[in-house]
Amino acid sequence: MVEKDFLHFCLSMKLKYANAGLALLLGFLLSACGGRQESWVVPQPQKVEFGRGYFDAGPLAEHSSHFRKQLDTSLHQPESYRLRVERDSVILLAADSAGLFYGQQTLQQLTRSDGRIPVVQIEDAPRFAWRGFMMDVSRHFYDTAFLKKQIDAMAVLKMNRLHLHLTDAAGWRIQIDAYPRLTEFAAWRKGALWKDWWFGSREYAEEGSPEAFGGYYTKDQLRELVAYAAERHIVIVPEIEMPAHSEEVLAAYPELSCTGVPYKHADFCPGKEETFVFLQTVLAEVMEIFPSEYIHVGGDEAGKAAWKTCPRCQQRMKQEGLSDVQELQSYLIHRMGDYLAQHGRRLLGWDEILEGGLAPGATVMSWRGIDGGLQAVRAGEHAILTPGSHCYFDTYQDAPHLLPEAMGGYLPLEKVYAFEPVPDSLSLQEAERILGVQANLWCEYVPTPEHAEMMIYPRLFALSEVAWTKSELKDWNDFHRRALRLCQTFEAAGYHPFDLANEFGNRPEALASITHLASGKKVSYQLPYYPGYAAGGDGALTDGLRGGWTYGDGRWQGFIRRGRLDVTIDLEEVMTLSSISADFMQVCGPEVFLPAEVVISVSQDNEHFDTLAVHTHEVVRDSQVRFEPFAWKGQAKGRYVRYQARSGQYGGFVFTDEIVVR
Ligand code: ACM
Ligand code: ZN
Repeated sequence: MVEKDFLHFCLSMKLKYANAGLALLLGFLLSACGGRQESWVVPQPQKVEFGRGYFDAGPLAEHSSHFRKQLDTSLHQPESYRLRVERDSVILLAADSAGLFYGQQTLQQLTRSDGRIPVVQIEDAPRFAWRGFMMDVSRHFYDTAFLKKQIDAMAVLKMNRLHLHLTDAAGWRIQIDAYPRLTEFAAWRKGALWKDWWFGSREYAEEGSPEAFGGYYTKDQLRELVAYAAERHIVIVPEIEMPAHSEEVLAAYPELSCTGVPYKHADFCPGKEETFVFLQTVLAEVMEIFPSEYIHVGGDEAGKAAWKTCPRCQQRMKQEGLSDVQELQSYLIHRMGDYLAQHGRRLLGWDEILEGGLAPGATVMSWRGIDGGLQAVRAGEHAILTPGSHCYFDTYQDAPHLLPEAMGGYLPLEKVYAFEPVPDSLSLQEAERILGVQANLWCEYVPTPEHAEMMIYPRLFALSEVAWTKSELKDWNDFHRRALRLCQTFEAAGYHPFDLANEFGNRPEALASITHLASGKKVSYQLPYYPGYAAGGDGALTDGLRGGWTYGDGRWQGFIRRGRLDVTIDLEEVMTLSSISADFMQVCGPEVFLPAEVVISVSQDNEHFDTLAVHTHEVVRDSQVRFEPFAWKGQAKGRYVRYQARSGQYGGFVFTDEIVVR
């Protein structure tokens, strides 16, 4: 919203433009009612003091003398503003145009349905400079109308970076004049749904052919999008993946891979000079479209396998004195960093760019936890934190059986809200090099705009408050109240947020600990658990703590060695037993399966075991997240309880959380 429209926008509410931003304003006006003066503003401002009474915006709308809005350079912090609403005046002072814009956003959220604005004094400024959201437009293509709608929502939430994941195996999404096959061919795949395509042919198609699904943005569309975002103080940060996640490029231009064979590689060949010509030419065209300081070059998840035997790669390593393929990746990223720096830009990449040595001046986007980001700031560089644990919105936000299929995981609103990006272990200077936080929506399992919005909202409300509001001012209960209201506002404006009012919550078993005959008893492992899923170690299966909706919550213990769990619990004395039970979970994407066979047995001397139960189960791959108990019930005596479970035809992990003995 440009400044000249301020009065109309805030007061006369003449809705001049039909866009989602105004629809959101309308939503606020519809939902903001009620007597008590509570703040409904998201994200929570740093300082809010309500007074008595209201500024009646309606009748005063024509009298602009009651409104003052100006820059005030004594406000030191970028993007900060002060808002003073009295009964007869509204004064908005801001450090810069972004501050004015955010002051307006706050004023809109304060304005009630009858046009009244409560008397209030607000002082506000963001905690972090980078308040980001990433949209993956490769796995499923989203048009610019959708992106503008999300930009409108980001503006309301005072978020300021939209990162577009523009390239990946599933489709190239940006017009590049020098390489037309990227949009004639690499932008189109044989399969509308990512899942069918990825687990099917993984082939690309010619644009316009009946089997082609996908799309791309023209340069004009992107320039318009950049301008639209800039009007809302949002910078669009483009990501071009390298050296990996590039199957689509290497199908269109196979000569850029190590062997030159199409449909064989995900990684560019960094041994070939043509690769650098390609990447720099693409980045040159990208920089013409996007004025952002940062250009994201991906850098994640490179397999690097072909580099180990490719003569060109080996020659490059020898020439440059590189000791392994990690350093070869680092060489490529260094060169890209230099190239971007020559053009006045800075390189941003996923935390793998640390491997083999971080390029000077590069900024790390930390996704595999926050450690990569911390490593970067300790080394004097900058970081943006987007750990999968708190910022990956491709996960379930409620009970999986109530939601469409997702990537897996469980990230409810409360957990996003609880994210604290700056650990105490950092010095003040190191902490200042954490630029901010970002949420990412990967879209493998997100095929429609409605579905995408359900995944984004209200979780982005929580992330906006993590990014904007000082941690000591955060209050989950108060935020939850405001988030419920904001969901209504968003719905009224045509968005499709998750139904927060009817949130089911975590797996009921996980909510309280239990005690049983084996509680705290020693567990001997005939086969070890997987160290990455230890769930606290040797005591996990008798600690009384049950797992929630995801095996990643630190309560599920994972077994992959020979596909087996095989443990014995020592009850310390012979006891009369009536049931022995353990729950298992299945989520097929990450290869976690219910067991194909379970054997439960008991012994008095730990040598001679009597089999109590043998269960066989047909493991079926499907898209459900499943939880099932495998139990024995009856009458038996024993001191040693042995529980064995083995995986079926797909191998993978078996996970259980507790062996309950009664
Ligand atoms: C990523 O999730 N591979 C950055
Ligand atoms: Zn090579």
